[in-house]
Amino acid sequence: MEWFEFICRLFEKADPYLAVRGDMGHTKVSYDYSLILLQHEGGSKRIVEPAVILHDVGWSVLEPEVISAAFGVLAEGEEAERLNRIHETEGAAIAKQILRSFDYELGLVEQISAIISRHDSGENAHSLEEGLVKDADKLWRFSRTGYWEETERQHLKPATLFEFLELRCREWFFSPTALRLAEEELVRRRDEITALRSGEDGDTQH
Ligand SMILES: [Fe+2]
Ligand SMILES: [Fe+2]
Repeated sequence: MEWFEFICRLFEKADPYLAVRGDMGHTKVSYDYSLILLQHEGGSKRIVEPAVILHDVGWSVLEPEVISAAFGVLAEGEEAERLNRIHETEGAAIAKQILRSFDYELGLVEQISAIISRHDSGENAHSLEEGLVKDADKLWRFSRTGYWEETERQHLKPATLFEFLELRCREWFFSPTALRLAEEELVRRRDEITALRSGEDGDTQH
């Protein structure tokens, strides 16, 4: 099977799992970032690309009402941490199953599922590939789609999310390319917030 065909089929397999939390949009944006990161930073696409596509399939085991307590910039506490760990460990198990159904190389399956099992909670990256997966995941929040979707999904003011991201971006990223992309996106988000504010001011003046 050609690589591109494999990637398309992997997206298809992941779709029902990702649909539970509405994560296909997030996954596609992160996937696009991962291609840029691979291009600039190197690393194995055979690990990074499947890991990014499958990293959030584990949310599918949790009830939608429960999920909202577990993620986002305001999520904290033991319960949020417990649920977050569930999406990582269950996701690792589901990813293994899916990749085995393609007869994917076992050594790679192990590495991919290990990355998924700590993609959110692990503070370190044990390999270049793990760092790139984590970076691609986080970059979603900086993207135009991700930023505005997350303000709605998490009921945040645009400025609140902006300040949070601006503060965190220096400590989050493992690769210089990801930090550069995040900073470039932040400039665009700042312009959008400014445009939104001047639009609102215009509305109130008329
Ligand atoms: Fe996740
Ligand atoms: Fe994610």
